[in-house]
Amino acid sequence: MTELRIGFIGVGGIAQEHLRNLRQIGGARVAVVCDVDRQRAELVAGEWGARSYAEYEPMLDREELDALYICVPPFAHVGQELVAAERRIPFLVEKPIEVGTAYAERVAAAVRGSGLTTSVGYHWRYFASVERARELIGDRTVGMALGYWMDSMPPPLWWRQRHLSGGQFVEQATHVVDLARYLIGDIVQVYAEMATRVLGEVDDFTIPDVGTVTVRFASGAVGTFSNACIGAPGPIALHLYLKDLTLEVGGHLTVRSREDVQEHHEHPNAYQAEDEAFLHAVRTGDTSRIRSPYGDALKTQRVCVAANHSAETGQPVRLTP
Ligand SMILES: NC(=O)c1ccc[n+]([C@@H]2O[C@H](COP(=O)([O-])OP(=O)(O)OC[C@H]3O[C@@H](n4cnc5c(N)ncnc54)[C@H](O)[C@@H]3O)[C@@H](O)[C@H]2O)c1
Repeated sequence: MTELRIGFIGVGGIAQEHLRNLRQIGGARVAVVCDVDRQRAELVAGEWGARSYAEYEPMLDREELDALYICVPPFAHVGQELVAAERRIPFLVEKPIEVGTAYAERVAAAVRGSGLTTSVGYHWRYFASVERARELIGDRTVGMALGYWMDSMPPPLWWRQRHLSGGQFVEQATHVVDLARYLIGDIVQVYAEMATRVLGEVDDFTIPDVGTVTVRFASGAVGTFSNACIGAPGPIALHLYLKDLTLEVGGHLTVRSREDVQEHHEHPNAYQAEDEAFLHAVRTGDTSRIRSPYGDALKTQRVCVAANHSAETGQPVRLTP
């Protein structure tokens, strides 16, 4: 088996997870590393005996790669995916795919129908508990969904700035929205209320710190997704309500029926399953294990960006599935 030559763009927090998995999985070598933080790029390159770059264009000009990982913050998607698509380099890009949708629409158009392998880092789709939830749902009617991302503000400075991250709904709650889409189907209408209630005095804080978003699914199901980053510990999960059945899905699955409560605690590494699916597709051309190709992730992004727009205008936003 020939070793795959992998390139990385952005080697901060989440890239370390993928790099660890690549070592575990085997059969792939990081050949080049790009980060605007030159020292960081050199450090990771040193660990792999790879070359390092501060800019992605010369890297993609000079290097022959089998696949690319793009692990930059939301504001930094500025052409990497387009160049990869042009050069037919399969890529795995972290969520969210950008701050807004304009650039992502161009990338989706470039990869649509091209046969290029793409994967987006919505790793919740790879939880064993999610697979179990899918089986349980089967063809039953889902009445409604309640999603939550109740947490604290993460440390990176870009995260708290609206123009750099898109805010908590686009940056974090997107996982829950995406999972709901995976389990229930497309979202066709979005109405949001957001506010800054607690963290307004924090330096450079320009995002809402609480929000709630009401949606309608194409199936007719309804839902809300709420998020807060004010330190109140709350669920990070998706709760689905079916006839006589409640499913609470996250890294675990709790199934509540009228008679009993069942807990499923399966913890395979969902990130690793995501990486394995991507590398398998790169190696064989079989993309069937990839659960979030770029075009589908764009639909989640449209929902999250529509929520921001609704919160700003006070109007619901309709989406075409
Ligand atoms: N799937 C998940 O569960 C998960 C978890 C954490 C982060 N993420 C996502 O991964 C992305 C990155 O998050 P992070 O926590 O790793 O951030 P980070 O700030 O820790 O790392 C980002 C890295 O990208 C580099 N960078 C910035 N702009 C660049 C550019 N133009 N070219 C090359 N490198 C650039 C930075 O110097 C830094 O090293 C975000 O979109 C985040 O939402 C996903």
